[in-house]
Amino acid sequence: MQMGALLGIESSCDDTGAAVLDADGRVLAEALHSQHAEHAAFGGVVPEVAARAHLHHLPGLVRRVMREAGLGYADLAGVAASGGPGLIGGLIVGTGLAKGIALAQRRPFLAINHLEAHALTPRLPGLFDGGAAFPYLLLLLSGGHCQCVAVAGVGRYRRLGGTVDDAVGEAFDKVAKLLGLPWPGGPALEALAARGDPRRIVLPRPMRGRAGCDFSFSGLKTAVAQRLAADPPDGVSPADIAAGFQAAVVDILADRARHAMRMMRALHPEARLLVVAGGVAANRAIRTGLAEAAAGEGFHLVAPPPRLCTDNAVMVAWAGLERLRLGRTDTMDFAPRPRWPLEDLAPDGHVFI
Ligand code: KG4
Ligand code: ZN
Repeated sequence: MQMGALLGIESSCDDTGAAVLDADGRVLAEALHSQHAEHAAFGGVVPEVAARAHLHHLPGLVRRVMREAGLGYADLAGVAASGGPGLIGGLIVGTGLAKGIALAQRRPFLAINHLEAHALTPRLPGLFDGGAAFPYLLLLLSGGHCQCVAVAGVGRYRRLGGTVDDAVGEAFDKVAKLLGLPWPGGPALEALAARGDPRRIVLPRPMRGRAGCDFSFSGLKTAVAQRLAADPPDGVSPADIAAGFQAAVVDILADRARHAMRMMRALHPEARLLVVAGGVAANRAIRTGLAEAAAGEGFHLVAPPPRLCTDNAVMVAWAGLERLRLGRTDTMDFAPRPRWPLEDLAPDGHVFI
């Protein structure tokens, strides 16, 4: 059977997205509504507000991408939506709409693990020379996720380590708030750091040198808070503090990535690719630090372009296509999963290496 196009829907956090890919994975149309304006006044994502915003925006975005792709719903080979992990309200909205279209058209429904969608993004056709062949090491750095994952195949993931407290993007957002910057704080903090001197303050590097590749950021955030509360501030500017914080994060991430690459090599001696994804991957100092760490370990760093690093529906549709090709579709009684570890995707429950 000739496979048709795939519709993907993203609604797991504060980005509402829809995208259509053709059978080969080429993007026919994509649309994204970022809910920053809806949540900015609250200084963070409000789950109830997010769910209502998805409900409001999603039908229009889906109609738009279908129109731009020049397709009718009967042309779809399947419909994929993020099924978790994420905020339950948005997940219900997205999977509900996807199931409705799939039912009406008698097409397969695919409930996509949002982390799997990030993990498979580098395999999108045309992104990297030859595509990202398995196995590779994924560093997922965003506001909600912070983990190192060995990606051995579709559905074959092993979490090598992750944060024991805050995600790295969350740490950027919290420190930005302490510095009086607008939410989301990462980009504003990076801009401020560019004008500061990272050597003016000494901040801790939690977990650096520790075995494994777990992360911890709450102590670093507390150290910044204490530094800001110190009286008098002894001539250290907010830009110096931002620069010092960013330098500490770069050091921590480079160290943890080095450990993760060694763990990866022990599992998969042929692995040479380090993929960094998530909103924090947009940070230039972090990219540079990770590229150096990768080169030192004989790995090559790649990062999808920012629009595919942050939450989007193209990655959901692509993960749907990869799963559909393998016949791994879902039933209509799939219930969205606010918590959904990647390891749970192994078909028979055993952990892959
Ligand atoms: O992947 P993403 O759009 O959404 C999820 O969290 O899932 O990531 C957003 C996070 C926010 O915490 C934001 O502050 C951070 O990524 N971020 C940055 C930068 N751009 C976005 N952090 C540091 N530097 C940046 N340039
Ligand atoms: Zn995400």
